Amino acid sequence: MAILYDPKERLFTLHTKNSTWQMKVSGYGHLLHVYYGEKVEDADLSYLLRGINRGFSGTPYEAEETGDRGYSLDTWPQEYPAFGTGDYRRSCVLAEHEDGSQAAEFLYVSHRICPGKYSLPGLPALRAGKEEAQTLEIRLKDRCTGLEVLLYYGVLEQEDVITRACILENTGSAPVILHRAMSCCVDFLRGDLDLITFPGRHAMERKLQRDKTRPGVCSVGSTRGTSSHQENPFVILCEKEAGEYQGACWGAAFVYSGNFLAETEVDQIGQTRLVMGIHPEGFRWRLDAGGRFAAPEVVLSYSGEGFSRLSHHFHDAYREHLLPPSFRQRKTPVLLNSWEAVEFTFQEETLLAMAESARELGIGLFVVDDGWFGSRDHDRSGLGDWFSNREKLPDGIEGLAEKIHGMGMQFGLWVEPEMVNEDSCLFREHPDWCLRIPGRAPNLERCQLVLDMGRREVRDYLFAAISQVLSDTRADYVKWDMNRNLSDVWSAALPASRQGEASHRYVLGLYELMDRLVRRFPDILWEGCSGGGGRFDAGILYYMPQIWCSDNTDAADRIRIQYGTSFGYPVCAMGAHVSSCPNGQTGRTVPLPARAETAMAGTFGYELDMRTFTEAERAQVPRQIADYERLSPLIREGDYYRLTDGEENRELAAWEFVSKDGRDAFVSVVFLHAAANPPFREIRLRGLDPKGLYRIEGEERLYRGNALMYAGLPLPVKLGDYQTVRYVLHRAEGEGEAGSAG
Ligand code: GLA
Repeated sequence: MAILYDPKERLFTLHTKNSTWQMKVSGYGHLLHVYYGEKVEDADLSYLLRGINRGFSGTPYEAEETGDRGYSLDTWPQEYPAFGTGDYRRSCVLAEHEDGSQAAEFLYVSHRICPGKYSLPGLPALRAGKEEAQTLEIRLKDRCTGLEVLLYYGVLEQEDVITRACILENTGSAPVILHRAMSCCVDFLRGDLDLITFPGRHAMERKLQRDKTRPGVCSVGSTRGTSSHQENPFVILCEKEAGEYQGACWGAAFVYSGNFLAETEVDQIGQTRLVMGIHPEGFRWRLDAGGRFAAPEVVLSYSGEGFSRLSHHFHDAYREHLLPPSFRQRKTPVLLNSWEAVEFTFQEETLLAMAESARELGIGLFVVDDGWFGSRDHDRSGLGDWFSNREKLPDGIEGLAEKIHGMGMQFGLWVEPEMVNEDSCLFREHPDWCLRIPGRAPNLERCQLVLDMGRREVRDYLFAAISQVLSDTRADYVKWDMNRNLSDVWSAALPASRQGEASHRYVLGLYELMDRLVRRFPDILWEGCSGGGGRFDAGILYYMPQIWCSDNTDAADRIRIQYGTSFGYPVCAMGAHVSSCPNGQTGRTVPLPARAETAMAGTFGYELDMRTFTEAERAQVPRQIADYERLSPLIREGDYYRLTDGEENRELAAWEFVSKDGRDAFVSVVFLHAAANPPFREIRLRGLDPKGLYRIEGEERLYRGNALMYAGLPLPVKLGDYQTVRYVLHRAEGEGEAGSAG
C-alpha cells in the first residue's frame, strides 16, 4: 500500500518505490509534516518532532493552558501553514474575513484514501488510473471561520512522485478574500540545503543556478502572467554534496503556466521551508459563501542518487502521466518551419518552393509560421484576424495546405490566439476584449495587446475562428505562440472587487480554450511556444506534447539551454531545429553535423531554406533524417543522461540516451572549443548493464558495460570548433566472452 494511516497515532505515511513522506495530526489538531526523503519502512518518525520553549515563538492558547510552551506553530513543521496565528514563516494562506481580520489556523477534520489520482477542476494535473496511483485527501478547517481546505496528495509509486494540490472552500456565510493561496509547503528539519533554479532571459532560457540557502527567504517567481523566460517553475533543493550521480535532492514542479512563486525560508533554528504556488503579488481572490478555489498542482520527487535520477523521475512521470496520452509513443515526422528563413515576407510560390526542396530531402511536414493571416506583413498588425492574407496566399491558407498535402507532405501552421494588434479588425470591433486599464496607456510589446482569456465570448470567438482554419486546412500540426507578457491587467468583464482574479482567470481561460481545441482536433500535433521558451512548463505540457525550447537556435547556446531544461523536462518535449549559419541570434557559425546532433536531443526539425544548401549539405539531410527516425525511440522514450556539466565544461558537451532495458544507447559528443596540442579525453557512459557486452556501431570489438561506465571510451582528437562524434551501442546477445572485451 502506498498510503498508510495509523489511527492511534494519527500518522499518515506515503510510500513510493524509493521515498517516504510522513505527517501527523498533533494533539492540538494541526497537521504536522514529519519527513520527506529516502524510503523508511515500518517506522513512526514523529520522534523527530521536538519543541523547547523559545522566546518570541508563541504557543497556541490551549498549549499554554497545559503548560506546553515547547509547542509552537512558529517552529514545528507544518503541512499547510496559514498567516496570522503564530507561524511567522512564509505561509500558504493569507485569508481576510468579513471583519477585516487576516488569520486562519487549520485543524484536522477528516480524510479519505482513494484508488487512482485526483484531478482538479479546470486545471492540468498528472493523470493516473486506479492501478497507477492512490490519492489521500485530508480536510482541515479553520478554528474560527468556515474556511476549509482539502489537501490532496497523489502518490505515483513507480515514478517516485508525490503530487500535491488543494482546494480552499468557504463553508461559512460571509465572503473570504484570499490574498495568498499557495499549493504546497514542504518543511525540512535541516537548514544546510542548496537551492537550484533555472533563470534566464528571452533567447537564453533556463541556465542552471545553484546557491546555498541562507537564513531568510530566497525566492524565484514570475509576475509576468506566464511562467516566463526569466524564471522557471521548477526548483531543486539538495544537499551540499549532491551532484549528478550522488546525494539527496528534492524537485518541485508547478503544473501551471501563469504567475508563480517558489520560496525557501531558512528559519531561526536552521530549518528550511519550501512553499510553491501562484504568486501572491496582484492576486486577490474573493471566495463567496459556498465558493471553492483550486490551487494548482505541484509535482514533487525525491532522489537519493543525485540529479540524474531526479530528472528521470520527472521525465518518466511526464511522459507517462502528463503529456497528452495519444502522443506518448506516436512517431512525428521531421518538419521544416518557415520562420527563420522568410519571417513575414513570403508569397505562396516561395513557400511551395521551400516545401518542395525539403520534401526532396525527406522532410515530411511543412509548417507556415507567422505571416499568413490578416494584414500580417510585420509585427504591428493583423493579430486576432485568423483568416488568410490573400495577397500572399491567393488561394488562402486552405489552398496552400491543399497543395502541400498534394505533395505528399503534412501541413502545419502558426497561431497566436491570445493576442491582438490594435491594427486589426478584431480590435476595431472589440476594443474591450483586451486587458488594459481605462485611462492608462498600456505597456506594449511587439505592438500587441493581450486578449482577456477569462471571458467566455473571447474564447468562443477564438475557438470558432481557429477551428475553422484547422478544419479548412486539415492541419496536422499547430504551433501555439504567445509573444508578450501581461501588464495593465484589468478586465472589463469583472467588477472592481474581482480585478485581483484577472491573471488567474486568464490562465484558467487559456487552459479551457486549449482543452477544447485539442479535444476537437485530437490528431493534430500541438507545439507550445512563447517567444521560444517563455512558457516552458508542466501546465502547457498537459495539453501539448512539445514546446519550442528557445528562439535561440544557435547550436552552441542551445546545448546549454537544453542542458538546463533537461533537469526538469523530458527531451521529447523540447522543440529543437537546425537553422542556418551564421546564426540569426548570435552570428555564430556551427558546422551542420553539430547543429543536427544538438537538434536531435529534442524534437528534431529544420528552420531554414533548404534551397540555399550546398550539394554537400543537401547530402547530409536525408542521412540526418534517417538517423533521427532510427534513433527516435531511444531519444523519446529512453533514459537521458547528462555526461558533462553544461555550465562548467566549455571544452566538450556529451549526453546519452539508454533504452529502458539497457540494451541500446546513443551517445552524442560535441567538442566545443578546439585546443592546440590537446589532452586526451575519455567519456564515461551511464545506465548500461555493467556485465553486458556492447558493440559500438562501426567497430568490431566488444566492450563490457562496466568498462564503458567506469573506465570510459577514449574520445578522438578533433581539429576545429564544434566537431562531433556519435556512438550507437547495442548489447551483443550471446556473442564473445570477456576475453575479447574491454
Ligand atoms: C516567436 C516564436 C518564433 C516565431 C515568431 C513569429 O518569437 O518564438 O519561433 O514563431 O514568434 O512571430
